[in-house]
Amino acid sequence: MESAQDQEILHRVCREVAPYTMVPQAALLFTLESALHCIELDMKGSIVECGTWKGGCSFGMLLVQRYKYGKIVKPVWMFDSFQGLPPADERDGPLAKAYQRDVDSAYYYDNCTAALEDVRIAIKLFGFSDEECRVVPGWFSDTLPSKTTTLGREGIALLRVDADWYEPVRFVLDTLLPHTTDDARVILDDYYFWDGCARATHDFLSSSGQAYRIRTIGDFVGAWFEKKAGRSGLLSPL
Ligand SMILES: C[S@@+](CC[C@H](N)C(=O)[O-])C[C@H]1O[C@@H](n2cnc3c(N)ncnc32)[C@H](O)[C@@H]1O
Repeated sequence: MESAQDQEILHRVCREVAPYTMVPQAALLFTLESALHCIELDMKGSIVECGTWKGGCSFGMLLVQRYKYGKIVKPVWMFDSFQGLPPADERDGPLAKAYQRDVDSAYYYDNCTAALEDVRIAIKLFGFSDEECRVVPGWFSDTLPSKTTTLGREGIALLRVDADWYEPVRFVLDTLLPHTTDDARVILDDYYFWDGCARATHDFLSSSGQAYRIRTIGDFVGAWFEKKAGRSGLLSPL
């Protein structure tokens, strides 16, 4: 249970980053709480978001630290193409293909494209240093492998995956899960929204032989799991 002061911080952050995110408030609050959670537990590692768009969730995970602790304890890595989404494929299902065809929809957001220059301007406005807010532009297949040595050394305490389609979600899970620390949280923003994200998650867990339990955020606004072996205390022992 958060204190009234924590609640105030969380809602202040939500207001400040609202222009930079398309994530609904319940999912954003969970993201912010998860950033605080890994710090409170003194978990090793940084915070990583793959699929940042204009940066709202990443900025939120930094701001919440600043307001709660007076400083940034864990840096946030921001990975994004800044060229929008790649083409959806069969594994993403008909709704994903329809989304990419409907360029006039209010939810098209230019195929989820954010301009890197605008993100850099926002970072300056918030006053984050390059060390605190680590932007890595480019396709995941090009950028993630080049950072796995650093991420492997630092560890990842919180991984936020918000890349919509099967191919990028699967690539992020395959590439970064080995570098997450024990008990790390992995947030799957699109698990309930897009078939590709759900399929990629199931295929990843199955192929890596993991039994991590998938949990729902709020009213199905997202999902998450913890990198824990076996039960995570949800059930009483038999
Ligand atoms: C739905 S948006 C992310 C929303 C964002 N987290 C927010 O707070 O609003 C999905 C993002 O994933 C990025 N993306 C998807 N596939 C990618 C890939 N293979 N490589 C790099 N970026 C990718 C897109 O550029 C887009 O910005």
